[in-house]
Amino acid sequence: MNGPSVGPPDPSPHHATPVEPCDFTVFGGTGDLALRKLLPALYLRDRDGQLPDGFRIIGVSRSEADDAGYREMVAQALAEHVPADELAAAVVERLLARLHHVTLDVEDVGAWHRLHDRLKDGAAGEDVIRVFYLAVAPALFGPICEHLDQVGLASERSRVVLEKPIGSDLASAEEVNRAVGRVFEESHIFRIDHYLGKESVQNLLVTRFANTFLEPLWNSRWVDHVQITVSESLGVGERGSYYDRSGALRDMVQNHLLQLLCLVAMEPPTYIDRETVRDEKLKVLQALRPMTPELVDRDTVAGQYAAGLCEGAAAPSYADEVGHASDTETFVALTTEVQNWRWAGVPFYLRTGKRMPERLSEIVVVFKEPPHAMFPHSEGTNEANRLHIRVQPDEGMRLHMTAKEPGPGGIRLRPVSLDLSYAAAFGGRSPDAYERLLMDVVRGNTTLFMRRDEVEAAWAWVAPILERWAGPGHRPRRYPAGTYGPVAAATLLERDGRSWQETE
Ligand code: BG6
Repeated sequence: MNGPSVGPPDPSPHHATPVEPCDFTVFGGTGDLALRKLLPALYLRDRDGQLPDGFRIIGVSRSEADDAGYREMVAQALAEHVPADELAAAVVERLLARLHHVTLDVEDVGAWHRLHDRLKDGAAGEDVIRVFYLAVAPALFGPICEHLDQVGLASERSRVVLEKPIGSDLASAEEVNRAVGRVFEESHIFRIDHYLGKESVQNLLVTRFANTFLEPLWNSRWVDHVQITVSESLGVGERGSYYDRSGALRDMVQNHLLQLLCLVAMEPPTYIDRETVRDEKLKVLQALRPMTPELVDRDTVAGQYAAGLCEGAAAPSYADEVGHASDTETFVALTTEVQNWRWAGVPFYLRTGKRMPERLSEIVVVFKEPPHAMFPHSEGTNEANRLHIRVQPDEGMRLHMTAKEPGPGGIRLRPVSLDLSYAAAFGGRSPDAYERLLMDVVRGNTTLFMRRDEVEAAWAWVAPILERWAGPGHRPRRYPAGTYGPVAAATLLERDGRSWQETE
């Protein structure tokens, strides 16, 4: 299944190959993800002429909506979630005409014929690609796949997409993977981590491997440490009931942050194709220093926001947002190490949280200080170089350097930066992660999706943290909304003589 690729990969997955006619079925078709992300993404792909005739979108949900009712619901969602200057009435009409709704309680065995009949009545016939996007609770992944199999909808031309969370711990993730794997082969299973679809995240691979100047420096000899921050200013809002069972470790660290860490730390794959990238990411996950209870106490910090001031407005506490006292963490900071030849001894500091001062995802690679202070009598300080890779917003890169301030009389050292802003360099709109990922599913390209062994390795690594945090006496530390988390998150670095790089 995951054997090494031989020779250059089929080039087609990386070019804009035409998308074939497809029945794109979304379980949870009236849900938040479908209306806020998936349908706007499909609209934008349609707007750019990527959806062929015969591309149908079938929303499945328990709602009694008929096709017309569903189209109305989606029209409203598009008006709300697609920027006004991207909305074109003719394209909206074209997209709505592709839409159908099937009312189905997936646990009602007798009702599945409805979906079967709807999919079989398409003009494209049996040969059509069938995508089943499961934007529902992970407990339903296995049962839905079984039913698809029973009604004859799981074929060689079918693919299944699993939204995170894939389980809530290692055992439940293995169970989901086993259940889905009984029906679909691994190459037909697309586990989404939408961070992998972000332009700037894909560009990280290009920056590292399509250029030569970074690679010789990208190791413990020259890198002092790496910081990965994914901060959000929003609270949990409407998602409290899901979030309160999940928390930031499961919701963000197990997937998005570890995936970013993998892309920073992995070895160059032979080619950027479906298995080699995933093979290299897996090796990073397997090289992470295993957490023991002592390391969890020493190297991890859990926080939960209290009331505060966020982006200039009063923000309620987490407990007030979810409506009860809770020990769920809304913030995580931790440090780990990739125990291999390249990275031994280099700390990787990760942090993520809700209700932090701003929405910002950034990777900062902090290089070592020059080995010898050559300008002892200069003014200013010779700061270590830092490469800031901005994932969002304002995607780009900034290399912090030291320069001589122009002028006579002595040497004055000043920090300066080389800036690359994608918006300034390339102009235009940066597509949403889902646009890229949904088209990759239809094309059958799994490169940017998580493989079963990756997901399980990530769960295995976070398991001791989950276990320790669930133990007696453990409670997340409170931090006021609108701040960078509990003080202990700063101490995590200060004890190593370092500090978090806040936005500049
Ligand atoms: C999701 C999490 O996977 O990612 C959310 O479930 C989080 O809690 C979101 O808000 C962040 O995604 P983005 O693309 O807005 O950074």
